[in-house]
Amino acid sequence: MKKLLITGGAGFIGSNFIRYVYRYHPEIRIIVLDKLTYAGNYKNLAALLGDRVELVVGDISDQPLVDKLVERSEAIVHFAAESHNDNSLSNPWPFIQTNIIGTYTLIQAATKYHKRFHHISTDEVYGDLPLSGSNEKFTPISPYQPSSPYSASKASSDMLVRAWIRSFGLQATISNCSNNYGPYQHIEKFIPRQITNILSGRRPKLYGSGSNIRDWIHVNDHSAAIWDILTKGKIGETYLIGANGEMSNKAVLEMILKLMKQPQNAYDIVKDRPGHDLRYAIDASKIRDELGWQPLYTDFQSGLQETINWYMDHQDWWQMDKNKVEMTYARNNQ
Ligand code: NAD
Ligand code: DAU
Repeated sequence: MKKLLITGGAGFIGSNFIRYVYRYHPEIRIIVLDKLTYAGNYKNLAALLGDRVELVVGDISDQPLVDKLVERSEAIVHFAAESHNDNSLSNPWPFIQTNIIGTYTLIQAATKYHKRFHHISTDEVYGDLPLSGSNEKFTPISPYQPSSPYSASKASSDMLVRAWIRSFGLQATISNCSNNYGPYQHIEKFIPRQITNILSGRRPKLYGSGSNIRDWIHVNDHSAAIWDILTKGKIGETYLIGANGEMSNKAVLEMILKLMKQPQNAYDIVKDRPGHDLRYAIDASKIRDELGWQPLYTDFQSGLQETINWYMDHQDWWQMDKNKVEMTYARNNQ
């Protein structure tokens, strides 16, 4: 396998995965297919473009374009998606179009040209877990119970991939990962929003009680897991990716405030997200036991400090979007 087609490679996780492959697997050449929506950023890839990385600006729902690029590739890693829950609550349509129709378009092409396909999905397809009274975690056989238009659209895309594996022999794997953090994450998301609020003189915003729990993983650990699945994973299998990083939103925010030398109570409680999932937690024993993957970024506080430093050092990367993002949140009392 020498040539990868990577969809959504100008976004947060896709661009980090490309940097990972570029650094550790110099034999690989990459074609990126990305629509450069508000979440995609040319700057995320600019330094890599050249002989080894090519960017094609286009839509994953464009069947003739997708066919052409899939035919030129040996394997497809599919990151492209509308990815933000809050946006899916105010306007679900782009989520249906990109996450469902776009995935359908890609798997049709991968089937037609007999190409290896890896589908990037999320733990949110399993819905949520209780906040207390149980140590239960998501496993590959947990029932699908998505809560938001975003997670329902991702669940739909997983189901399409599973059906194409069974009915058409698509050579595919699926991974469902927990919440990623690290550099290049869009400032609409929880951790970068709070960091850039502080850096721009605004107060951080916590939804509701702040007791909701997310299972944080550094984006580089996610990239390594995807590489392992792509190269060693068993066709037809689903792998859950997580690093035992459960923390409440309030605890994460208090850690950010401490690391940025702010008073512990210097934040606002704002309107909660409708249908807000309570807790996510991943049982990653399958990928650990079968593929030998393990996370390296196990110290969340130092990963968070590095992430804060990245946003401090790259103000030109996020500053021009900040007012617009915050105006959208303010219209929603968030
Ligand atoms: P992101 O929003 O940062 O990036 C998405 C990328 O997809 C952008 O570059 C955007 O331009 C591109 N894109 C959107 N619609 C497109 C279309 N129709 N055609 C071509 N390109 C299009 O998202 P992310 O956080 O990097 O997430 C990447 C993938 O990982 C998604 O599939 C998401 O569901 C999944 N995921 C994310 C997380 C997380 O914590 N962020 C966790 C688990 C899984
Ligand atoms: O679990 C994986 C998922 O993680 C991915 O599939 C999604 O693409 C990704 O966006 C993320 O979804 P979340 O909804 O968990 O992430 P978000 O960053 O939007 O919010 C994290 C938590 O923080 C959530 O409980 C809501 C809360 N929150 C969010 C924002 C933006 C706040 O309290 N304040 C905020 O300002």
